[in-house]
Amino acid sequence: MLRTVHATRYVTPLREGGSLPAIVEADDEGLYVLKFRGAGQGPLALVAEVIAGEIGRVLGLRVPELVTMEVDSALGRNEPDEEIRDLLEASTGLNLGLDYLPGALMFDPAAGDSADPTTASTAVWFDSFVGNVDRTARNPNLLWWHKSLYFIDHGASLIFQHNWCTAEANAVSPFARVGDHVLLPWATEIAAVDPGLRARLGMSIFSEILAMVPNGWLTEDRSAYVRYLSARLQAASSFVEEALRARAELV
Ligand SMILES: Nc1ncnc2c1ncn2[C@@H]1O[C@H](COP(=O)(O)OP(=O)(O)OP(=O)(O)O)[C@@H](O)[C@H]1O
Ligand SMILES: [Mg+2]
Repeated sequence: MLRTVHATRYVTPLREGGSLPAIVEADDEGLYVLKFRGAGQGPLALVAEVIAGEIGRVLGLRVPELVTMEVDSALGRNEPDEEIRDLLEASTGLNLGLDYLPGALMFDPAAGDSADPTTASTAVWFDSFVGNVDRTARNPNLLWWHKSLYFIDHGASLIFQHNWCTAEANAVSPFARVGDHVLLPWATEIAAVDPGLRARLGMSIFSEILAMVPNGWLTEDRSAYVRYLSARLQAASSFVEEALRARAELV
């Protein structure tokens, strides 16, 4: 289960985020990056954040703790910026919070950053599994914090949930955008990590993760997601082969 906290103070917007996420303080005195249910991307982006984020965690990647955060109408009352006030108003109720990592820096290959082969290979496998297109050199969504890499921003993954008639075909398809993955240059162990990663996932893990998603965000049964994820896992060879091919083309 995800912990639930209550928002107590809107601290500052993160202007670089397309969905206008913000740093918000909660009643446990923690600071969180709040992703709003009322943002343009809609609640399914939060569904993707939870499902993909928790799958990444099960695979051994570092993902900041996810919580659900209750926002009430008092939070935006004194907010001078109209866009922010509207967003807060449209988001009363449950939203998604990520533990805020103070002082974290974005991964930047142009500045000489690199990743260890296991992390990079696991990340390529993971992003291929959930179909995450937001892990490119231009927009890596990878934060350095205390000398470790943290994985954020999974809202654009699991695209099939926006159009369920594509789900069956999507589940067995390779991840065509893997060639743009920012960690592909260091992903030298994809074949080696593959069996172990497959073994960590399965129907019961998927069901546990779906149970973390709040009712009000879903427009489809949890069992439909579990079926999709199980089918994708069954077909893992298709995206693993594509990743190996893309990696061989790099070198
Ligand atoms: N847990 C966190 N700790 C510290 N900084 C964070 C955290 N989560 C996000 N950020 C910062 O906030 C920015 C926006 O977050 P995120 O990428 O999740 O939002 P987004 O609206 O989906 O972004 P975009 O669509 O522009 O990629 C990140 O690029 C990062 O700089
Ligand atoms: Mg981002």
